[in-house]
Amino acid sequence: MERVECDVLVVGAGGAGLRAAISAAEAGAKVALVSKSLLGKAHTVMAEGGIAAALGNVDGRDSWKIHFRDTIKGGKGINNWEMAKLHAEQAPERVRELERWGAVFDRTSDGRISQRNFGGHRYPRLAHVGDRTGLEIIRTLQDHVVHIDGVDVQMETTVTRLLKSGERVTGALAYRRTDGELLLFTASAVILATGGIGKAYRVTSNSWEYTGDGHALAYLAGADLVDMEFVQFHPTGMVWPPSVKGTLVTEGVRGEGGILLNSEGERFMFNYIPKAFSAETAKDEAEADAWLRGEDGAMRPPELLTRDVVARAIMDEVKAGRGSPQGGAFLDIANRRDADYIRRKLPSMYHQFKELAGLDITKEPMQVGPTTHYMMGGVRVDSATGASSVAGLYTAGEAAAGMHGANRLGGNSLSDLLVFGNLAGQAAATYASSSDRLPPVGEEVETARNAALAPFEEGSENPYHLHQELQEIMEAHVGIVREGTVLEAGIAKLEALQARLARLHASGGRDYNPGWHLCLDLHNMILTSLAVARAGLERTESRGAHTRIDYPDYDDDLGQVNLVIRRSAREMVVVRAPLPDMPAELAKFVAQEAV
Ligand code: FUM
Repeated sequence: MERVECDVLVVGAGGAGLRAAISAAEAGAKVALVSKSLLGKAHTVMAEGGIAAALGNVDGRDSWKIHFRDTIKGGKGINNWEMAKLHAEQAPERVRELERWGAVFDRTSDGRISQRNFGGHRYPRLAHVGDRTGLEIIRTLQDHVVHIDGVDVQMETTVTRLLKSGERVTGALAYRRTDGELLLFTASAVILATGGIGKAYRVTSNSWEYTGDGHALAYLAGADLVDMEFVQFHPTGMVWPPSVKGTLVTEGVRGEGGILLNSEGERFMFNYIPKAFSAETAKDEAEADAWLRGEDGAMRPPELLTRDVVARAIMDEVKAGRGSPQGGAFLDIANRRDADYIRRKLPSMYHQFKELAGLDITKEPMQVGPTTHYMMGGVRVDSATGASSVAGLYTAGEAAAGMHGANRLGGNSLSDLLVFGNLAGQAAATYASSSDRLPPVGEEVETARNAALAPFEEGSENPYHLHQELQEIMEAHVGIVREGTVLEAGIAKLEALQARLARLHASGGRDYNPGWHLCLDLHNMILTSLAVARAGLERTESRGAHTRIDYPDYDDDLGQVNLVIRRSAREMVVVRAPLPDMPAELAKFVAQEAV
């Protein structure tokens, strides 16, 4: 078994992992950065439309405080307010830093970073480069990482288990995809930056790497998870052709003026304007108008309501028989902007539809529908450091939770991963500098090794079949719209799947064996799926991305708590944790805007 020694092990090399590795290395730590895939390939690139930061370049009225308020309102009040505050305060500096590191942005006429509108953001706030912002951020961070000392990058390497000594995390076991070799990492601190859980669902913008690894690793090491019921379905994924169903259509299309239409040509989003902090829809014009105008009278289009609202609206239109021919809604930018503008501001969308669907978006509307995109739930962390409830274990980015509450605003993920990647990297390096590097416990390593290689033993279950069953269960039982009895039946099915994990079988050898890798990924996907379903059952209300048809309203008591998933006597339990009090001055500011 190969051995790698480091001060800080960063698991995941998307935006959060890269940013954490930079901060940890700059603080003097010897860093090992593990990437499940090739460096540069991460879900970060799927945040196409921009990075949210209150730079105020396009509208000088913007400020961190308004960004904070939008984030809390978007999260339906159950965000970790400290994280939302740190994020709003620090995002502008993280963007300026990227600019100093060479990131390319679209510019205003006077040369400043340009910003566009996005759902739930009061002012144009998303710094962007066309519709390739995530890609540019990854490119910039990667370029920075390879030019600083102290970061050892291990590509195509997947961590299967965290190792502990007593109550402290002290390393991890991993395998390398190319040759199937096992690697033993010894580290004083570990940062999980593994992203989301999208592959538990059939229709998703996520690629094969996103199997809830960090969520499961942390949970099994004894860390708390939180907000697991909140899975974000991005309203606009491709619905046609079937081979690319779920591929993201950036919110930037709507940010640039695109509108949603049903099969009757109606701009239906005007019918879905919500009441303030309520799951209900505004019934009278005055209420709808109040949302559209906001406190400052600036008109905003209803397509830029938050993602939970837009995704449900598209589903409702399809259910009512007003969907597009392939079961979505029409997204029209062709009749709103001229062709040159569309090609300049949305080049990837232009090529994506041209190549994959044979459609010219400068001439015809797209067909779009909801796609599983982002996990609001994750490891419960300390807001300023990313420290989990287990000593030596930190989390940043999508694998961490709290910042976005019940629903994330588009563009807030890119700024989240920079702000909290930076903080976690610094904190883990500080922790590592004052902690001894403990040798791995032999028995633990042996158990982890046996678990990693178990699929090569006798077994009859095909991992691809099990994966398909999992995705069908999640879609049917734990999808956009949920119901108690359906969730209960889903949990029973997930438990039955979990019992079959021990019989998973991988044929062939250990080098480049995706069947083996999927066997291991399935353990994580099923565990996190169970956490989503159990938290979803416990949250008997509709809030943000979690919609219960049997509980269509907000529940004031549940609005005061986060749901924590914890391992207790080897069982998964759900407990309620009261929200920390927001300082009165901030609470008053949040309450100021009518909706
Ligand atoms: O639609 C998008 O460009 C996605 C952005 C995000 O998820 O933040």
